[in-house]
Amino acid sequence: MSDESQVVRPARAVGGVVRIPGDKSISHRYAMLAAIAEGTSRFQNFSAARDCASTLQCMSKLGSAWKRLEDGAIEVQGIGPQLKPPTEMLDCGNSGSTMRMLSGILAGQAFRSELFGDESLSKRPMARIMKPLSEMGAKISSSEGARPPLNIEGGGLQAIHYKPEVASAQVKSCVLFAGLFADGETVVEEPIRTRDHGEIALRAFGAEVDRRGNTSSIAGGQRLRAIEGHVPGDLSSAAFFLCAAALFPGSKITLPGILMNPTRARLLEILMHMGLKISVAHLEEHHGELVGTIEAQGVAWKGGAIVGADTAALIDEIPVLAAIAPYSENGLEVRDGKELRVKESDRIAAVATNLRKMGAEIEERPDGMKIPGGQHLHGAELDSFGDHRIAMAFAVAALRAEGEMTMRDSDAAGVSYPTFFRDLDRIAIR
Ligand code: S3P
Repeated sequence: MSDESQVVRPARAVGGVVRIPGDKSISHRYAMLAAIAEGTSRFQNFSAARDCASTLQCMSKLGSAWKRLEDGAIEVQGIGPQLKPPTEMLDCGNSGSTMRMLSGILAGQAFRSELFGDESLSKRPMARIMKPLSEMGAKISSSEGARPPLNIEGGGLQAIHYKPEVASAQVKSCVLFAGLFADGETVVEEPIRTRDHGEIALRAFGAEVDRRGNTSSIAGGQRLRAIEGHVPGDLSSAAFFLCAAALFPGSKITLPGILMNPTRARLLEILMHMGLKISVAHLEEHHGELVGTIEAQGVAWKGGAIVGADTAALIDEIPVLAAIAPYSENGLEVRDGKELRVKESDRIAAVATNLRKMGAEIEERPDGMKIPGGQHLHGAELDSFGDHRIAMAFAVAALRAEGEMTMRDSDAAGVSYPTFFRDLDRIAIR
Protein backbone atom coordinates (compact mmCIF):
# COMPACT_ATOMS: atom_id res chain seq x y z
CA MET A 1 0.00 0.00 0.00
CA SER A 2 1.31 3.50 -0.84
CA ASP A 3 0.92 6.64 1.26
CA GLU A 4 -0.39 8.60 -1.67
CA SER A 5 -3.86 10.09 -1.41
CA GLN A 6 -5.99 12.23 -3.72
CA VAL A 7 -8.64 14.77 -2.88
CA VAL A 8 -11.63 14.98 -5.21
CA ARG A 9 -13.83 18.08 -4.98
CA PRO A 10 -17.47 18.19 -6.08
CA ALA A 11 -18.25 19.43 -9.60
CA ARG A 12 -21.23 21.15 -11.26
CA ALA A 13 -20.87 19.16 -14.46
CA VAL A 14 -18.29 17.39 -16.62
CA GLY A 15 -17.34 18.11 -20.20
CA GLY A 16 -14.65 17.69 -22.85
CA VAL A 17 -12.61 15.12 -24.68
CA VAL A 18 -10.67 12.32 -22.95
CA ARG A 19 -8.10 10.14 -24.69
CA ILE A 20 -8.29 6.84 -22.89
CA PRO A 21 -5.16 4.63 -22.73
CA GLY A 22 -5.04 1.35 -24.63
CA ASP A 23 -7.12 -1.61 -23.52
CA LYS A 24 -5.56 -3.67 -20.75
CA SER A 25 -7.01 -7.04 -21.80
CA ILE A 26 -5.77 -6.67 -25.38
CA SER A 27 -2.36 -5.30 -24.37
CA HIS A 28 -1.65 -8.32 -22.12
CA ARG A 29 -2.54 -10.73 -24.88
CA TYR A 30 -0.56 -8.84 -27.54
CA ALA A 31 2.54 -8.76 -25.32
CA MET A 32 2.36 -12.49 -24.59
CA LEU A 33 1.64 -13.59 -28.15
CA ALA A 34 4.24 -11.19 -29.61
CA ALA A 35 6.89 -12.87 -27.43
CA ILE A 36 6.16 -16.35 -28.83
CA ALA A 37 5.71 -15.11 -32.41
CA GLU A 38 8.37 -14.92 -35.08
CA GLY A 39 9.57 -11.39 -35.82
CA THR A 40 9.28 -8.02 -34.14
CA SER A 41 5.85 -6.65 -33.21
CA ARG A 42 5.00 -3.01 -32.63
CA PHE A 43 1.99 -1.67 -30.78
CA GLN A 44 0.68 1.88 -30.78
CA ASN A 45 -1.40 2.96 -27.78
CA PHE A 46 -0.25 -0.03 -25.73
CA SER A 47 -1.85 0.13 -22.28
CA ALA A 48 -0.12 2.39 -19.75
CA ALA A 49 -1.36 0.09 -16.97
CA ARG A 50 1.07 -1.16 -14.33
CA ASP A 51 -0.50 -4.59 -14.91
CA CYS A 52 0.64 -4.63 -18.53
CA ALA A 53 4.12 -3.54 -17.49
CA SER A 54 4.13 -6.66 -15.28
CA THR A 55 3.38 -8.78 -18.34
CA LEU A 56 6.13 -7.11 -20.40
CA GLN A 57 8.63 -7.63 -17.55
CA CYS A 58 7.73 -11.32 -17.27
CA MET A 59 8.11 -11.78 -21.03
CA SER A 60 11.54 -10.16 -20.98
CA LYS A 61 12.65 -12.54 -18.20
CA LEU A 62 11.57 -15.31 -20.56
CA GLY A 63 13.87 -14.01 -23.29
CA SER A 64 11.66 -11.61 -25.25
CA ALA A 65 13.16 -8.10 -25.12
CA TRP A 66 10.87 -5.08 -25.41
CA LYS A 67 11.38 -1.35 -25.62
CA ARG A 68 9.42 1.87 -25.91
CA LEU A 69 10.06 3.68 -29.20
CA GLU A 70 10.31 7.45 -29.62
CA ASP A 71 6.76 7.69 -30.94
CA GLY A 72 5.51 5.96 -27.78
CA ALA A 73 4.89 2.59 -29.42
CA ILE A 74 6.00 -0.60 -27.68
CA GLU A 75 8.24 -2.96 -29.62
CA VAL A 76 8.38 -6.62 -28.63
CA GLN A 77 11.02 -9.01 -29.94
CA GLY A 78 9.41 -12.34 -30.75
CA ILE A 79 11.58 -15.38 -30.12
CA GLY A 80 9.25 -18.09 -31.36
CA PRO A 81 7.34 -20.71 -29.37
CA GLN A 82 10.31 -21.82 -27.24
CA LEU A 83 10.94 -19.25 -24.53
CA LYS A 84 14.11 -19.12 -22.39
CA PRO A 85 14.07 -20.62 -18.90
CA PRO A 86 13.86 -17.70 -16.44
CA THR A 87 16.74 -17.23 -14.01
CA GLU A 88 14.45 -15.77 -11.36
CA MET A 89 10.83 -15.88 -10.23
CA LEU A 90 8.31 -14.12 -12.46
CA ASP A 91 6.68 -11.16 -10.70
CA CYS A 92 3.06 -10.69 -11.82
CA GLY A 93 2.51 -7.74 -9.46
CA ASN A 94 -1.22 -7.12 -8.98
CA SER A 95 -2.16 -8.74 -12.26
CA GLY A 96 -4.39 -11.82 -12.26
CA SER A 97 -4.46 -11.64 -16.06
CA THR A 98 -0.66 -11.94 -16.23
CA MET A 99 -0.53 -14.91 -13.88
CA ARG A 100 -3.47 -16.82 -15.33
CA MET A 101 -2.82 -16.30 -19.04
CA LEU A 102 0.97 -16.59 -18.89
CA SER A 103 0.54 -19.91 -17.06
CA GLY A 104 -1.01 -21.27 -20.26
CA ILE A 105 2.12 -20.40 -22.23
CA LEU A 106 4.47 -21.64 -19.48
CA ALA A 107 2.59 -24.95 -19.36
CA GLY A 108 3.83 -25.46 -22.92
CA GLN A 109 7.49 -24.79 -22.11
CA ALA A 110 9.92 -27.60 -21.31
CA PHE A 111 11.27 -25.88 -18.21
CA ARG A 112 10.29 -24.97 -14.71
CA SER A 113 9.08 -21.53 -13.76
CA GLU A 114 7.61 -19.87 -10.73
CA LEU A 115 5.10 -17.00 -10.70
CA PHE A 116 4.27 -14.79 -7.74
CA GLY A 117 2.31 -11.63 -7.08
CA ASP A 118 1.59 -8.89 -4.55
CA GLU A 119 -0.49 -9.29 -1.41
CA SER A 120 -3.81 -9.02 -3.27
CA LEU A 121 -2.84 -11.42 -6.07
CA SER A 122 -1.50 -13.88 -3.50
CA LYS A 123 -5.05 -14.32 -2.21
CA ARG A 124 -6.71 -14.92 -5.57
CA PRO A 125 -7.95 -18.36 -6.71
CA MET A 126 -5.80 -20.24 -9.23
CA ALA A 127 -7.56 -23.65 -9.21
CA ARG A 128 -9.48 -22.45 -12.25
CA ILE A 129 -6.32 -22.61 -14.38
CA MET A 130 -4.44 -25.29 -12.44
CA LYS A 131 -7.17 -27.84 -13.18
CA PRO A 132 -7.19 -27.59 -17.01
CA LEU A 133 -3.42 -27.20 -17.29
CA SER A 134 -2.87 -30.29 -15.12
CA GLU A 135 -5.36 -32.19 -17.26
CA MET A 136 -3.29 -31.21 -20.28
CA GLY A 137 -0.22 -32.70 -18.63
CA ALA A 138 1.59 -29.76 -17.00
CA LYS A 139 2.91 -30.25 -13.46
CA ILE A 140 1.61 -27.29 -11.53
CA SER A 141 1.64 -26.66 -7.81
CA SER A 142 0.68 -23.73 -5.60
CA SER A 143 0.43 -22.53 -2.04
CA GLU A 144 -2.28 -23.76 0.31
CA GLY A 145 -5.76 -23.48 -1.20
CA ALA A 146 -4.59 -23.13 -4.83
CA ARG A 147 -3.25 -19.59 -4.25
CA PRO A 148 -0.05 -18.08 -5.71
CA PRO A 149 2.87 -18.55 -5.96
CA LEU A 150 2.55 -21.07 -8.76
CA ASN A 151 5.22 -23.53 -9.76
CA ILE A 152 4.93 -24.82 -13.31
CA GLU A 153 6.84 -27.60 -15.01
CA GLY A 154 5.64 -27.56 -18.57
CA GLY A 155 5.96 -29.50 -21.80
CA GLY A 156 4.39 -32.57 -23.44
CA LEU A 157 0.82 -31.17 -23.41
CA GLN A 158 -2.19 -33.08 -24.68
CA ALA A 159 -5.27 -31.28 -26.04
CA ILE A 160 -8.44 -31.31 -23.93
CA HIS A 161 -12.11 -30.41 -24.29
CA TYR A 162 -12.60 -28.12 -21.31
CA LYS A 163 -15.81 -26.78 -19.80
CA PRO A 164 -14.84 -24.17 -17.17
CA GLU A 165 -17.17 -23.83 -14.19
CA VAL A 166 -16.64 -20.08 -13.89
CA ALA A 167 -17.21 -17.76 -16.81
CA SER A 168 -13.71 -16.32 -17.15
CA ALA A 169 -11.97 -14.93 -20.22
CA GLN A 170 -8.65 -15.30 -18.43
CA VAL A 171 -9.24 -19.04 -18.07
CA LYS A 172 -10.37 -19.34 -21.71
CA SER A 173 -7.27 -17.52 -22.98
CA CYS A 174 -5.02 -19.55 -20.67
CA VAL A 175 -6.32 -22.85 -22.05
CA LEU A 176 -6.27 -21.68 -25.69
CA PHE A 177 -2.69 -20.40 -25.28
CA ALA A 178 -1.70 -23.78 -23.81
CA GLY A 179 -3.55 -25.36 -26.74
CA LEU A 180 -1.01 -23.82 -29.12
CA PHE A 181 1.59 -26.12 -27.55
CA ALA A 182 -0.59 -29.23 -27.21
CA ASP A 183 -0.88 -32.31 -29.32
CA GLY A 184 -4.32 -32.24 -30.98
CA GLU A 185 -7.21 -29.81 -30.91
CA THR A 186 -7.98 -27.99 -27.65
CA VAL A 187 -11.60 -26.94 -27.12
CA VAL A 188 -12.99 -24.51 -24.54
CA GLU A 189 -16.75 -24.58 -24.03
CA GLU A 190 -17.88 -21.72 -21.82
CA PRO A 191 -20.99 -21.54 -19.63
CA ILE A 192 -21.48 -17.90 -20.68
CA ARG A 193 -19.66 -16.21 -23.52
CA THR A 194 -16.86 -14.05 -22.13
CA ARG A 195 -14.69 -11.41 -23.81
CA ASP A 196 -13.02 -12.85 -26.89
CA HIS A 197 -9.78 -10.86 -27.13
CA GLY A 198 -7.74 -14.08 -26.82
CA GLU A 199 -9.35 -15.61 -29.89
CA ILE A 200 -9.14 -12.35 -31.87
CA ALA A 201 -5.49 -11.80 -30.93
CA LEU A 202 -4.54 -15.38 -31.80
CA ARG A 203 -6.09 -14.86 -35.23
CA ALA A 204 -4.32 -11.51 -35.63
CA PHE A 205 -0.99 -13.28 -35.05
CA GLY A 206 -1.90 -15.80 -37.75
CA ALA A 207 -3.35 -18.74 -35.81
CA GLU A 208 -6.53 -20.48 -36.88
CA VAL A 209 -9.15 -20.46 -34.14
CA ASP A 210 -12.51 -22.04 -34.74
CA ARG A 211 -15.49 -20.42 -33.00
CA ARG A 212 -19.06 -21.68 -32.72
CA GLY A 213 -21.41 -20.20 -30.14
CA ASN A 214 -19.69 -20.42 -26.76
CA THR A 215 -17.05 -22.86 -28.01
CA SER A 216 -13.56 -21.95 -29.23
CA SER A 217 -11.01 -24.45 -30.55
CA ILE A 218 -7.39 -24.30 -31.53
CA ALA A 219 -5.08 -26.89 -33.11
CA GLY A 220 -1.66 -27.29 -31.52
CA GLY A 221 1.63 -26.63 -33.29
CA GLN A 222 0.60 -23.43 -35.09
CA ARG A 223 3.30 -20.79 -35.50
CA LEU A 224 2.58 -17.12 -34.84
CA ARG A 225 3.80 -14.15 -36.90
CA ALA A 226 4.60 -10.65 -35.55
CA ILE A 227 2.08 -7.84 -36.14
CA GLU A 228 1.99 -4.04 -36.19
CA GLY A 229 -1.01 -3.23 -34.03
CA HIS A 230 -2.94 -0.32 -32.58
CA VAL A 231 -4.55 -1.01 -29.21
CA PRO A 232 -8.06 0.48 -28.91
CA GLY A 233 -8.88 2.70 -25.92
CA ASP A 234 -9.99 0.70 -22.89
CA LEU A 235 -13.79 0.64 -22.59
CA SER A 236 -13.58 -0.36 -18.91
CA SER A 237 -11.51 2.80 -18.24
CA ALA A 238 -13.90 4.84 -20.40
CA ALA A 239 -16.71 3.62 -18.11
CA PHE A 240 -15.56 6.00 -15.34
CA PHE A 241 -16.02 9.03 -17.59
CA LEU A 242 -19.31 7.75 -18.97
CA CYS A 243 -20.60 7.36 -15.42
CA ALA A 244 -19.33 10.85 -14.56
CA ALA A 245 -21.39 12.24 -17.48
CA ALA A 246 -24.38 10.20 -16.31
CA LEU A 247 -24.31 12.07 -13.00
CA PHE A 248 -24.96 15.52 -14.48
CA PRO A 249 -27.86 16.13 -16.88
CA GLY A 250 -26.60 18.23 -19.79
CA SER A 251 -22.95 17.10 -19.44
CA LYS A 252 -21.29 16.05 -22.67
CA ILE A 253 -18.08 14.08 -23.14
CA THR A 254 -16.28 12.67 -26.17
CA LEU A 255 -14.05 9.60 -26.01
CA PRO A 256 -12.24 8.90 -29.30
CA GLY A 257 -10.88 5.50 -30.39
CA ILE A 258 -12.62 3.29 -27.83
CA LEU A 259 -12.90 -0.48 -28.02
CA MET A 260 -16.34 -1.52 -29.29
CA ASN A 261 -15.90 -5.29 -29.19
CA PRO A 262 -19.43 -6.72 -28.77
CA THR A 263 -18.32 -8.94 -25.85
CA ARG A 264 -17.44 -5.75 -23.93
CA ALA A 265 -19.91 -3.23 -25.35
CA ARG A 266 -22.92 -4.58 -23.47
CA LEU A 267 -21.90 -1.84 -21.03
CA LEU A 268 -23.05 0.81 -23.50
CA GLU A 269 -26.51 -0.75 -23.86
CA ILE A 270 -26.89 -0.94 -20.08
CA LEU A 271 -25.74 2.69 -19.66
CA MET A 272 -28.27 3.80 -22.28
CA HIS A 273 -30.96 1.77 -20.57
CA MET A 274 -30.08 3.41 -17.26
CA GLY A 275 -30.38 6.90 -18.73
CA LEU A 276 -27.19 7.98 -20.53
CA LYS A 277 -27.50 9.23 -24.10
CA ILE A 278 -24.77 7.63 -26.22
CA SER A 279 -23.82 7.75 -29.87
CA VAL A 280 -20.91 6.04 -31.59
CA ALA A 281 -19.17 7.38 -34.69
CA HIS A 282 -16.06 6.70 -36.80
CA LEU A 283 -16.24 2.91 -36.50
CA GLU A 284 -13.07 1.15 -37.62
CA GLU A 285 -11.50 -2.26 -37.21
CA HIS A 286 -7.97 -2.90 -35.94
CA HIS A 287 -6.78 -6.50 -36.24
CA GLY A 288 -10.31 -7.79 -35.73
CA GLU A 289 -11.19 -5.44 -32.85
CA LEU A 290 -13.90 -2.83 -33.42
CA VAL A 291 -13.13 0.76 -32.42
CA GLY A 292 -15.28 3.91 -32.35
CA THR A 293 -15.68 7.41 -30.93
CA ILE A 294 -18.20 7.63 -28.10
CA GLU A 295 -20.22 10.79 -27.48
CA ALA A 296 -22.15 10.68 -24.23
CA GLN A 297 -24.62 13.06 -22.72
CA GLY A 298 -26.11 12.98 -19.24
CA VAL A 299 -29.90 13.05 -19.18
CA ALA A 300 -31.49 11.59 -16.03
CA TRP A 301 -29.83 8.70 -14.23
CA LYS A 302 -32.41 6.02 -13.56
CA GLY A 303 -30.34 3.00 -12.47
CA GLY A 304 -31.67 -0.55 -12.85
CA ALA A 305 -30.55 -4.14 -12.40
CA ILE A 306 -27.51 -6.15 -13.51
CA VAL A 307 -28.06 -9.92 -13.44
CA GLY A 308 -26.99 -13.20 -15.08
CA ALA A 309 -24.82 -12.92 -18.18
CA ASP A 310 -24.81 -9.11 -17.83
CA THR A 311 -23.04 -9.41 -14.47
CA ALA A 312 -20.25 -11.43 -16.11
CA ALA A 313 -20.08 -8.99 -19.04
CA LEU A 314 -19.89 -5.93 -16.77
CA ILE A 315 -17.78 -7.44 -14.00
CA ASP A 316 -15.13 -4.66 -14.15
CA GLU A 317 -17.65 -1.82 -14.43
CA ILE A 318 -19.90 -2.83 -11.52
CA PRO A 319 -17.84 -0.91 -8.91
CA VAL A 320 -18.44 2.45 -10.65
CA LEU A 321 -22.08 1.68 -11.46
CA ALA A 322 -22.56 0.83 -7.77
CA ALA A 323 -20.68 3.92 -6.57
CA ILE A 324 -23.01 6.25 -8.50
CA ALA A 325 -26.17 4.21 -7.83
CA PRO A 326 -27.32 6.20 -4.77
CA TYR A 327 -27.75 9.28 -7.03
CA SER A 328 -30.04 7.38 -9.41
CA GLU A 329 -33.84 7.54 -9.41
CA ASN A 330 -34.45 3.83 -8.87
CA GLY A 331 -31.22 2.51 -7.39
CA LEU A 332 -29.24 -0.52 -8.51
CA GLU A 333 -29.50 -4.21 -7.89
CA VAL A 334 -26.59 -6.53 -8.75
CA ARG A 335 -27.10 -10.31 -8.67
CA ASP A 336 -25.02 -13.36 -9.70
CA GLY A 337 -21.78 -11.54 -8.90
CA LYS A 338 -19.97 -14.00 -6.61
CA GLU A 339 -16.81 -13.34 -8.69
CA LEU A 340 -16.80 -9.74 -7.42
CA ARG A 341 -15.56 -11.12 -4.10
CA VAL A 342 -12.34 -12.54 -5.62
CA LYS A 343 -11.18 -9.62 -7.77
CA GLU A 344 -8.30 -7.29 -6.82
CA SER A 345 -10.30 -6.72 -3.62
CA ASP A 346 -13.61 -8.07 -2.34
CA ARG A 347 -15.46 -5.52 -4.45
CA ILE A 348 -18.85 -6.04 -2.79
CA ALA A 349 -17.39 -5.36 0.66
CA ALA A 350 -15.24 -2.46 -0.60
CA VAL A 351 -18.22 -0.75 -2.30
CA ALA A 352 -20.41 -1.23 0.79
CA THR A 353 -17.76 0.17 3.16
CA ASN A 354 -17.10 3.25 1.05
CA LEU A 355 -20.73 3.99 0.27
CA ARG A 356 -21.60 3.77 3.98
CA LYS A 357 -18.76 6.17 4.81
CA MET A 358 -20.32 8.61 2.34
CA GLY A 359 -23.62 8.27 4.19
CA ALA A 360 -25.40 5.91 1.78
CA GLU A 361 -27.59 2.95 2.52
CA ILE A 362 -26.65 -0.35 0.86
CA GLU A 363 -27.69 -3.95 1.32
CA GLU A 364 -24.73 -6.27 0.87
CA ARG A 365 -25.46 -9.82 -0.34
CA PRO A 366 -23.18 -12.85 -0.79
CA ASP A 367 -23.32 -12.48 -4.58
CA GLY A 368 -24.35 -8.88 -5.09
CA MET A 369 -25.89 -5.78 -3.57
CA LYS A 370 -28.97 -3.61 -3.53
CA ILE A 371 -28.56 0.16 -3.41
CA PRO A 372 -31.60 2.41 -3.08
CA GLY A 373 -31.78 5.50 -5.30
CA GLY A 374 -32.57 9.08 -4.37
CA GLN A 375 -29.81 9.35 -1.74
CA HIS A 376 -27.50 12.26 -0.92
CA LEU A 377 -23.83 11.49 -0.28
CA HIS A 378 -21.22 13.48 1.57
CA GLY A 379 -17.45 13.53 1.17
CA ALA A 380 -15.40 11.26 3.43
CA GLU A 381 -12.00 9.70 3.81
CA LEU A 382 -12.13 6.49 1.80
CA ASP A 383 -9.83 3.59 1.10
CA SER A 384 -9.03 2.09 -2.31
CA PHE A 385 -8.42 -1.30 -0.63
CA GLY A 386 -5.46 -1.43 -3.03
CA ASP A 387 -7.94 -1.91 -5.89
CA HIS A 388 -7.67 0.37 -8.94
CA ARG A 389 -11.34 0.17 -9.83
CA ILE A 390 -12.45 1.05 -6.29
CA ALA A 391 -10.12 4.09 -6.26
CA MET A 392 -11.54 5.36 -9.57
CA ALA A 393 -15.20 4.45 -8.90
CA PHE A 394 -15.35 6.58 -5.76
CA ALA A 395 -13.52 9.48 -7.37
CA VAL A 396 -16.44 9.60 -9.80
CA ALA A 397 -19.05 9.31 -7.03
CA ALA A 398 -17.30 12.15 -5.18
CA LEU A 399 -18.06 14.58 -8.03
CA ARG A 400 -21.67 14.79 -6.86
CA ALA A 401 -21.14 14.50 -3.11
CA GLU A 402 -21.34 17.32 -0.66
CA GLY A 403 -17.82 18.29 0.42
CA GLU A 404 -14.44 16.82 -0.45
CA MET A 405 -13.55 13.16 -0.66
CA THR A 406 -10.07 11.90 0.14
CA MET A 407 -9.04 8.62 -1.45
CA ARG A 408 -6.27 6.88 0.48
CA ASP A 409 -3.84 4.69 -1.49
CA SER A 410 -5.07 6.41 -4.66
CA ASP A 411 -1.94 5.22 -6.46
CA ALA A 412 -3.76 1.89 -6.91
CA ALA A 413 -5.44 3.51 -9.96
CA GLY A 414 -2.15 3.10 -11.84
CA VAL A 415 -2.74 -0.64 -12.01
CA SER A 416 -4.95 0.12 -15.03
CA TYR A 417 -4.92 3.93 -15.53
CA PRO A 418 -1.95 5.93 -14.20
CA THR A 419 -3.24 9.38 -15.29
CA PHE A 420 -6.82 8.85 -14.15
CA PHE A 421 -7.07 11.50 -11.41
CA ARG A 422 -5.54 14.14 -13.67
CA ASP A 423 -7.88 13.28 -16.56
CA LEU A 424 -10.93 13.31 -14.29
CA ASP A 425 -9.95 16.67 -12.82
CA ARG A 426 -9.54 18.08 -16.33
CA ILE A 427 -13.14 17.31 -17.35
CA ALA A 428 -14.69 18.37 -14.03
CA ILE A 429 -16.45 21.76 -14.32
CA ARG A 430 -16.58 23.53 -10.97
C1 S3P B 1 -10.04 -10.07 -18.06
C2 S3P B 1 -11.13 -10.80 -17.72
C3 S3P B 1 -11.91 -10.53 -16.51
C4 S3P B 1 -11.66 -9.13 -15.98
C5 S3P B 1 -10.21 -8.77 -15.94
C6 S3P B 1 -9.58 -8.91 -17.30
C7 S3P B 1 -9.31 -10.47 -19.27
O1 S3P B 1 -11.55 -11.46 -15.52
O2 S3P B 1 -12.23 -8.98 -14.69
O3 S3P B 1 -10.06 -7.44 -15.48
O4 S3P B 1 -8.49 -9.69 -19.78
O5 S3P B 1 -9.54 -11.59 -19.75
P1 S3P B 1 -12.15 -12.94 -15.53
O6 S3P B 1 -11.88 -13.49 -16.86
O7 S3P B 1 -11.44 -13.70 -14.47
O8 S3P B 1 -13.60 -12.75 -15.21
